Amino acid sequence: MPGKYWLEIYGCQMNFAEGYALESELKKLGWKQAGTAEEADVAILHTCSVRQTAENRIWGRLGFFKHIKQSKHQKLIVMGCMAERLKNEIVQREPSVDLVVGNYHKEYLADIIDGLQDQDISHAERKEAFLKHEKEFRFQKLHYRENDFHAYLPIMHGCNNFCTYCIVPYVRGREISRSPEEILDEISQLESRGVKEISLLGQNVNSYSYQDGRTKVDFPDILERILDHSRDIEWIRFITSHPKDVPPRLIDLIQEQPRICRHVHLPVQHGSSSVLQRMNRKYSREDFLDLVRRMKEKVPGISLTTDILIGFPGEGEKDFQDTLSLLREVRFDDAFMYYYNVREGTPAAQFDDQLPKELKLERLDEVIQLQRSISHEIRMQRIGTVEKVLAESVSRRNSSELLGRTERDQMTVFPGTKAQIGGFFHVRLEELHGNTFKGSICEEPEA
Ligand code: SAM
Ligand code: SF4
Ligand code: F3S
Repeated sequence: MPGKYWLEIYGCQMNFAEGYALESELKKLGWKQAGTAEEADVAILHTCSVRQTAENRIWGRLGFFKHIKQSKHQKLIVMGCMAERLKNEIVQREPSVDLVVGNYHKEYLADIIDGLQDQDISHAERKEAFLKHEKEFRFQKLHYRENDFHAYLPIMHGCNNFCTYCIVPYVRGREISRSPEEILDEISQLESRGVKEISLLGQNVNSYSYQDGRTKVDFPDILERILDHSRDIEWIRFITSHPKDVPPRLIDLIQEQPRICRHVHLPVQHGSSSVLQRMNRKYSREDFLDLVRRMKEKVPGISLTTDILIGFPGEGEKDFQDTLSLLREVRFDDAFMYYYNVREGTPAAQFDDQLPKELKLERLDEVIQLQRSISHEIRMQRIGTVEKVLAESVSRRNSSELLGRTERDQMTVFPGTKAQIGGFFHVRLEELHGNTFKGSICEEPEA
């Protein structure tokens, strides 16, 4: 029976895509979004396990929902990577959790939530509802959030790379590529709902591989099929591209196809070849710098962003300095920077040369300072240029301004009206406030 749901999504873009898909299924069944967590009949936490900090946050939220449940009849569901990793512990530590759903069976979840409201269904029967189905991953059908002009579109699931620090292959399983038919079908559905920009998702999109009848479809092939198939989607992005195997044809496509954004997220993780080797990244510092050189040569002005993982076991001062020098050399537009968290069950958790937390934090701080100043300098250089921007919403600060993103995926506000939301505009960047540009709409510049 439909009621009100409250959904909190943590973690990566894949989690957001899946959360939005669940939300649209619930809405189809007549469910409404609750205005506050307290008001909801069902509360759902879509969780992440990549770092201890992500899990700690969920334990905290579970305490909050336990408190709500003392005075209100509410069902509590924990789903996603932490649910996959710590199923038994969650059930034991938090009896207030009604259902724990890992990374499989999400496609049945909306129906099961609908059934949860029915008091006749016992806990055992609900568990049975999952166990009846084999543990095989299936993609949800439509990863769309109402009124959005951007959509995350999973084309792969899982990971085969087993970087020694990372929990993802253990909680998401082996790589599976989604069929071109399903991908193109979802694109048609997204276009019919007004979506203008998509981000293709996978832990490593470069290893996309699907046997379509007699034809093997790889990542550049599926990109070409998407370009052929779609009409209204003007911007195509993809995340993540593992630096070990960026296909040369992909770089050509970025150069040739204006609808593929000239922005690539290329997580390097570290600047020292020996650390990269122990991380099992399968490329060296030199390989990475060579890739960057080729990309910048082929696609002048390309925007590169990255992930940095600092404080890996055995990281010496020289290794750390190598990371700083790599950042200075590449000059990424932006970076997500983390300190290494031990993840139980991964090989690096057993390495005996773990660094003290204070040293990890100290080094992380230095990396953040350096990258911040590089990001700021790069942004300042863009002042005065004209960029294409997709208007996404009315600015929260000023209702006569719109908030949008540039092709480099940078936030920009500019004067505009609600009717312009969902449109592409040429915006002259005039000022920088924090990380957000301020500008105004102008004529398209001469090519
Ligand atoms: N598949 C992507 C790749 O290979 O670049 C990364 C996906 S991972 C979910 C996102 C980021 O989390 C990684 O790039 C890494 O920097 C960070 N990460 C992974 N494991 C971590 C750990 N044990 N501690 C801290 N950060 C971690
Ligand atoms: Fe984790 Fe490495 Fe897979 Fe990325 S490629 S998800 S970092 S194991
Ligand atoms: Fe976290 Fe799972 Fe994504 S561990 S980063 S939500 S794949």
